[in-house]
Amino acid sequence: MAQTWPRRDEPFLILGVETSCDETAAAVVANGAAVLSSVVSSQIDLHARFGGVVPEIASRAHVELLTPVVAEALVEAAVDDGGADAVAATVGPGLIGSLLVGVSAAKALALVWDVPFIGVNHMEAHLYAALLEQPNVVFPTVVLLVSGGHTLLVEMRDHGHYRPLGGTIDDAAGEAFDKVARFLGLGYPGGPAIEQAAAGGDPEAVPFPRALLDQAWDFSFSGLKTAVINHVRKNPDVTTADVAASFQEAVVDVLVTKAAAAATHVGAASLCLGGGVAANTRLRDRTAEVCEQLGLQAVLPSRAMCTDNAAMVAAAAWWRLLSEGPTPLDAGAQPNLALPLA
Ligand code: KG4
Ligand code: ZN
Repeated sequence: MAQTWPRRDEPFLILGVETSCDETAAAVVANGAAVLSSVVSSQIDLHARFGGVVPEIASRAHVELLTPVVAEALVEAAVDDGGADAVAATVGPGLIGSLLVGVSAAKALALVWDVPFIGVNHMEAHLYAALLEQPNVVFPTVVLLVSGGHTLLVEMRDHGHYRPLGGTIDDAAGEAFDKVARFLGLGYPGGPAIEQAAAGGDPEAVPFPRALLDQAWDFSFSGLKTAVINHVRKNPDVTTADVAASFQEAVVDVLVTKAAAAATHVGAASLCLGGGVAANTRLRDRTAEVCEQLGLQAVLPSRAMCTDNAAMVAAAAWWRLLSEGPTPLDAGAQPNLALPLA
């Protein structure tokens, strides 16, 4: 049964906490819509020399960074000693050690302030990043969620009502960017590095494969990664810029083609992007183009909202609280949590 609280017409401040991977973040959002503060402390420098996120280093860094990050978010939002009206944290999917840091801290604050705790699904939070900045999104919408760990196409009929249409059968889109960047010696994280390298290259230089274009809504990026490696080994003179541009074009081509087809198939009025890969300029431009052609509302969150942050956690928490109420304090972190279906 729908809760009669919180009241939508009174300011209700949710402190969001995000520690699922390598960003330590806290934010205060009013009524799931107004971002009063959003602080993100990235651990990229700590992990870069290992070429990827090292889980043990990530959880230790969250322990050190979370208290100052939360304090900064509360001060910036002018939250007084009485605390926020609720505290939310990402409970999964993500790295278990990292998740536990944020979940424990959020529960402790909820107990001290005597306010509700709300456990949030990280992918649902990415989805809400788009809706947070575009409150007038027209439903039904199709959301393409593309992060380091997930590639998902989701139909959303209303707040909290999802139908997953498809996902990757092997590597996630962001993972493909990271792996190809590592192979090309471009560093970590791979997405921004590939995007930068691609700026000086020809996207048609190498006709890399577009997998599963004939198979509805599932994706596969592992073969593309192998194709890049084979091509560079066979053609050592090829420029990194051309390989990066051609690889990026192949990924974007598949993502946009399938997302547009899914939107048409379900009769969507809008198409939303979410997740770290949605910060990619080529993906954003192609999505805007195809939405224009199909007469769809394009919902492209700002780049800062695409990558991991806690404002999206607090926004998703508001809608969860309205529909389901608080999460029991004995609910734990769930590293493999799936997107909730409704
Ligand atoms: O959503 P996110 O910040 O963290 C996860 O939940 O995974 O996504 C991180 C992923 C990484 O794989 C990173 O390489 C990719 O997003 N990414 C990008 C860009 N910025 C971040 N991929 C392509 N182009 C970008 N500009
Ligand atoms: Zn994420």
